[in-house]
Amino acid sequence: MIIAIPELMRARYHPETLPHREPEIKKLDNIYRRNLLYPIGKCSHVTRVLGPVGSGKTCTVKTFTHRIKKDTEKHKVPLRIVYVNCKLGVKDRRSLYSRILEAITGKTPPSYSPGEYLDRITKYLAEEDLYLFLVLDDVDYLIRRDKRSEPEGGLVYDLTRLGEYYPRRAVNILGVVFIAQEQGFRDVLDQSERSSLGFLVIRLKGYDKEELLDILRSRVYEAFNITAVPGEVLEYVCDLTTHGDYKGDCRYALGLLHTGGLIADESMSDQVQVDHIRKAVSETCWGPSMEELYSLDMQQLLILLAIVQALRVKARAYVMIRSVYDFYTMLSSTYDVEPLSYTRVKHLIKELEHLVGIDYVPGKGVRLMDASLDDFERVIERALQQVTGTNSCNPPL
Ligand SMILES: Nc1ncnc2c1ncn2[C@@H]1O[C@H](COP(=O)(O)OP(=O)(O)OP(=O)(O)O)[C@@H](O)[C@H]1O
Ligand SMILES: [Mg+2]
Repeated sequence: MIIAIPELMRARYHPETLPHREPEIKKLDNIYRRNLLYPIGKCSHVTRVLGPVGSGKTCTVKTFTHRIKKDTEKHKVPLRIVYVNCKLGVKDRRSLYSRILEAITGKTPPSYSPGEYLDRITKYLAEEDLYLFLVLDDVDYLIRRDKRSEPEGGLVYDLTRLGEYYPRRAVNILGVVFIAQEQGFRDVLDQSERSSLGFLVIRLKGYDKEELLDILRSRVYEAFNITAVPGEVLEYVCDLTTHGDYKGDCRYALGLLHTGGLIADESMSDQVQVDHIRKAVSETCWGPSMEELYSLDMQQLLILLAIVQALRVKARAYVMIRSVYDFYTMLSSTYDVEPLSYTRVKHLIKELEHLVGIDYVPGKGVRLMDASLDDFERVIERALQQVTGTNSCNPPL
């Protein structure tokens, strides 16, 4: 096997050390360390971490929170670090606050208004003598969506003005980090939100070629058989990633390398060759992050395969979830997997919409965004192969 430890190439895996992001981690440390280790001032700083896709925003903040968590535990600070990806399963401001309340109390809360949730969050923290550090990833996505229904105020206003909302209560929120893509984040906010955001901004640039080479070398060193990826291949991946549309997107570079490794394995080669990378590009130039695809579980992959099969059989641009479900139950019996309920499958399709190249339109059904059915199917089958350890063209019967 060319990839010795496939888990280390998955999207959810964040390495311990991040080449070329230590200065940004240090900046977060400078802003928050004192306040988190000695939470006397109870003053919450709001920081924005901004940058293009794949520039390492999420892993930079997560590395910081992992490290600071260890230190706060040593200092016995009763701190909850809550990370929410606002693209996944967060419909609006209300459901965001509900998620936060659930994360700190450990209980599913009843339905409240956004204001009531905030009230309960701050009250719970004060009563239990707990502190909160909040990371809201892909927050621009949620803000944009919320602004369509609620142009005035919103979550930025709420979270930056807690002290004003509750002047007589200790607001034990020690920090809020907003992670977003640079473009359009400020434009969507109203004047009062912009002014309360403050000046703490950490801007990440897309990686340049030399930086990407260092990163890929360190990731290859961890995950691949060490002799399996020649320097020329790494250079080629970095060239592709720093020219054209991808502008230093590390996720794309890792995805290409991962797919190239799998293609090399399929062709019984003991090294990744430039041509394997070319194939990886041609199969996946339609967009969804390969890294994300490889981190999906068996059920999610079967649902995607069912979408492809339903679209092929119906020969329509959209297919209703009901039809997808029929194909899904057939596939789950082929793969000997306990089928999920219809409602669960519907929910997963809505979640997957933001991760891979599918689009769900209520009333019309699901469609593929850019890929051809064949390309999409090939990639899903390869990902299935990773999960099952078998060739999915010949699934277990
Ligand atoms: N400096 C680095 N060293 C090692 N791996 C990195 C580095 N930067 C990014 N990565 C990896 O690249 C992938 C993308 O990084 P990350 O998810 O942090 O990007 P992002 O800026 O949050 O992207 P998006 O805007 O799409 O959310 C992740 O798998 C991450 O582990
Ligand atoms: Mg991210």
